[in-house]
Parts: sequence; C-alpha cells; structure tokens
Amino acid sequence: MPIFSGRCYSNVKLAGKTAVVTGCNTGIGKETVLDFYKRGARVIMACRSQEKAEATKVEIEQKCKDLSEKGDLIIEKCDLSSLNSVRQFSKKILDSEAQINILVNNAGVMMCPKGYTEDGFETQFGTNHLAHFLLTMLLIPRIKNSTPARIVTVSSKAHTRYGINFDDLNYEKRQYSAAEAYSQSKLANVLFSRELAAKLKENNIMGINTYSLHPGVIRTELGRHLDEVLFKGSRRMIGFVLYPFMKTPEQGAQTTIYCSVDEKCANETGLYYSDCEVTNPDRKALNDEHAKMLWEKSMELVKLNDYNPFTASDPGITRK
Ligand SMILES: NC(=O)c1ccc[n+]([C@@H]2O[C@H](COP(=O)([O-])OP(=O)(O)OC[C@H]3O[C@@H](n4cnc5c(N)ncnc54)[C@H](OP(=O)(O)O)[C@@H]3O)[C@@H](O)[C@H]2O)c1
Repeated sequence: MPIFSGRCYSNVKLAGKTAVVTGCNTGIGKETVLDFYKRGARVIMACRSQEKAEATKVEIEQKCKDLSEKGDLIIEKCDLSSLNSVRQFSKKILDSEAQINILVNNAGVMMCPKGYTEDGFETQFGTNHLAHFLLTMLLIPRIKNSTPARIVTVSSKAHTRYGINFDDLNYEKRQYSAAEAYSQSKLANVLFSRELAAKLKENNIMGINTYSLHPGVIRTELGRHLDEVLFKGSRRMIGFVLYPFMKTPEQGAQTTIYCSVDEKCANETGLYYSDCEVTNPDRKALNDEHAKMLWEKSMELVKLNDYNPFTASDPGITRK
C-alpha cells in the first residue's frame, strides 16, 4: 500500500442529485458508485454487462443495507465500444432523468491487443476517448439544466509517455503498440477535459466544471490484457513487483470522488488532479492547438458535425 494516498474527506451529501458513472461494475468505478450511493445519490450505472452490473448493485445494496440515508442504483446498458450503444444509452437517460449533476467518464480498457470498435476506431481511442466524448456531448443539454454540475474524466499518468498522432489515430499506417495506444487515449482524456472547460467558458455557460485525473496505480482488473500483449505470466509478475506501491480500489477512487463532490474544488475547472490535489499534466496535455484539433476531429468522427452541444435544446423527459 502506498505511504501517501490522497483522500476525499468531504462529508457532502448527494440526496436529490443524480450521477452517471461509466464502467462501474468493478474497479474504481464500483467504489465511486458505492461512495455516491452512501451519500444519497441516484446513481446511473452505465455498464456493458447487465449481469455484472446487477451483481455489483446487489453487493453494494447488501453492504449498505443498514444505512438509513442511501440513494438509488439504476443499471443502464452502455457499451462504449459502440457509438450506437452510447447514443441509445444517452437517449434513455435524457428520456428518464430530470437532471444529471455529475458525469464520471470512468470506463477504460488498457493495453489490449490490436482491435477495433464497432465503428472502426482503435479499441482504446474509441472506447476511452471517443465514446466518452460523444456521451458528454449528448448529455450536456441536460447537464446545463442541472447546475452546479461536474464532468469528471478519469485519465492516467500514462498520458505523459507518448503523443497523439493525428495522421494515424487508428494505427492504420504505423505499427500498433498497445502501450502507445493506451497513452494516446489517456492524453485525449486530459485534452478533452481542458478544451471542454474552455468551450463552456467561451459559450458563457456557468456552473459546469470539468476535471481530469490520474487515480494512482491500483489493484483492479485493468491489467487483464497484459498476458496477451506482453508474455504469459506478465500480469502476475508486474502485479507482484508493484504490489507494495499499489492502491486498493477504494483508495484509487478517492481522486474521482474528490473531483466529483468536494467543496474544495467546487470553483476549479479544466484542471488535472492526482491524489486529490491539482497537479500539472504533461506539457503535451497543455497544447491548446492539439486540444482544439482533437475536439474538431472527435466531432467529425462521432458524426456530430451539425450539432452544437452548448446551444442544443434540452429535449426534456418523457418518462417519470
Ligand atoms: N488501475 C489503475 O492502476 C489505473 C491507473 C490509471 C488510470 N486508470 C483508469 O481508471 C479507469 C478505471 O479503471 P480500473 O482500474 O477500475 O479498471 P477495471 O477494473 O478494468 O474497470 C474498468 C471498467 O471499465 C469497463 N469497460 C471496459 N470496456 C468497456 C466498454 N467497452 N463499455 C463499457 N464499459 C467498459 C469494464 O467493464 P467490464 O467489467 O465489463 O470489462 C469495467 O467496469 C480507467 O479509465 C483506467 O484507464 C486506472
């Protein structure tokens, strides 16, 4: 366990608030949901496997059964490797949820073998960045009507290692590297969060803050593909070597929780965090030109060319 691990000490309650958390049937997403639920939030669990999400929901409810002021857990299918699934999920949420006060773009896949999403994007760029980009764009009209609101995007220190190759985002022209592709997707997370803050400001939209973060090195299922891309037994070996320095999932969720709820960062936006503190991302993540290029490219790739999330009207709910 690391000697220092940042912690969110805020006692803020979330009764009456709605949070959407992607990829939360395990790992730090699951701990984030548990925390929000204990604070009284209505939490939409956006997961690709209904079965895994159901098991997690039951586990959390069981764990909290003696608490008096807890929230609600709602499962909705959302597979981030399919933009169609993201669109269907967003529609359902916009139809049913009167407000969205917290959006946590948490789901992630790391160092998987070369592969493509349903829409033909490299798996990590498509899942970790583009799907969250689309989700955020589609939910903004409702988030705008739910202020104060926060949009938290879970990145990684891995964003520092490589850059973004705008000429070959999908590894069609260069040799695929699982580590490089993960790094590219996590750099995209930070650039997106920064540019979103800038665009909200440009559009005079107050009350929505954005945050990106490195959660630490944590004992989760994230290394599930290591044996396939490195060598058999590598996941175990790396886990063994890093074990003393790794956080528990509960510790790993603290920076996400801090950015989502803590009063201390309520007036901050567009910044990058680690161990519940603002920290500098790599200078590649501070490149404003790249942030704008990524925004334009992402709008094009998710086919939102004629859509302006900042002026689009809130469709209103159709289900209660
Ligand atoms: N663990 C670390 O050391 C570490 C370090 C830096 C950053 N992070 C970041 O933290 C976030 C959470 O990771 P974790 O460590 O908690 O990993 P994890 O235990 O592997 O959890 C990842 C979650 O994302 C979901 N997911 C993956 N692909 C998805 C898809 N196509 N559609 C919907 N959900 C999908 C997984 O669902 P399934 O269970 O169905 O696969 C799972 O719920 C990620 O963004 C990761 O990059 C983690």
